Amino acid sequence: MTSHVKPLARIFSGVQPTGNLHLGNYLGAIRNWVRLQHDHECLFCVVDLHAITVWQEPAELRRATLEVAAALIACGIDAEKHVVFHQSAVPAHAQLAWIFNCVARVGWLNRMTQFKEKAGKDRENASVGLYAYPNLMAADILLYKATRVPVGEDQKQHLELANDIAQKFNHDYGRQVFPQIEPLILGPAARVMSLRDGTKKMSKSDASDQSRINLTDDPDAIALKIRRAKTDPEPLPHDEAGLEGRPEARNLVGIYAALADLHHGAVLAEHGGKPFSAFKAALTDLLVATLSPIAAEMRRLLADPGAIEAVLRRGAERAAALAAPTIAEVEETVGFVRL
Ligand code: TYM
Repeated sequence: MTSHVKPLARIFSGVQPTGNLHLGNYLGAIRNWVRLQHDHECLFCVVDLHAITVWQEPAELRRATLEVAAALIACGIDAEKHVVFHQSAVPAHAQLAWIFNCVARVGWLNRMTQFKEKAGKDRENASVGLYAYPNLMAADILLYKATRVPVGEDQKQHLELANDIAQKFNHDYGRQVFPQIEPLILGPAARVMSLRDGTKKMSKSDASDQSRINLTDDPDAIALKIRRAKTDPEPLPHDEAGLEGRPEARNLVGIYAALADLHHGAVLAEHGGKPFSAFKAALTDLLVATLSPIAAEMRRLLADPGAIEAVLRRGAERAAALAAPTIAEVEETVGFVRL
């Protein structure tokens, strides 16, 4: 009897090897990747080409690339079953990105809020790579014709642009080469905010280390950061409506909800009415219980960098093999002479 097993949907997602991975990366993205890997075919990429859109010290970039790969494995990504690799090891990313530079319109990129934020006031002095960054992201995903992309909320606009690029490419060349992609923005912590300012995203580039929990923070550092986290003077509300206008409270409750696998409402049903001091102690316990084993596993993995490099090498080979038919199809479609 022939069985008709539906092929698993393909996932692609990426993370930059810049600075420390933090709780936002974990709750907004990596933890969801770990869960989705059971019923998807996945590629997870350490995006070093994206990293150099702003200056990176070469030795630090190399170190961070291995560290992020180790973090993915320590968080529970199965690098045997799925493809874990770094972007620069598969030149097809840059190749397809160039073609997308010629498909995307300047007007589209001008609307990207992340470029505006990252370039700041001195836009004239931003790298061209930073401007074209979303085109490379579209190439990352569409190179593998991945259809599902789990990310934090901050990447939503970039994924919409990737769909615009796919659609325009297909339309211009009159062929259905690329699929549409579905952003997967999941859970109560799709946008983790800074611990110092509940209106700002938790970010690797924030000058204050107190603003974020790093995956490698030890229990004392976690406890101190949570104790110092900005709050307001009111006790916790009893329901979600009570979080309105209280961004810091919403953020801490969202983090707790994600870690405990609950909704905001369920967390508040338990902790509503308590002062922040009590809630923060419970949150610290949850954070330490979740992050300490990950940090320990990262330390263990990083003691043998050769083994991490071997994972990346094998991942790059598998990724390159998956990318080859798309590149061939795109070159044929665009009209490049293939020898
Ligand atoms: P990066 O490296 O900034 O972040 C990696 C992932 O973490 C998520 N994230 C957050 N989620 C919730 N709260 C936060 N404060 C927070 N900060 C970061 C991001 O949304 C992301 O999912 N451009 C991407 C990397 C990339 C990519 C791709 C992603 C390159 N190519 C293709 C998906 C598909 C980035 O800079 O992520």
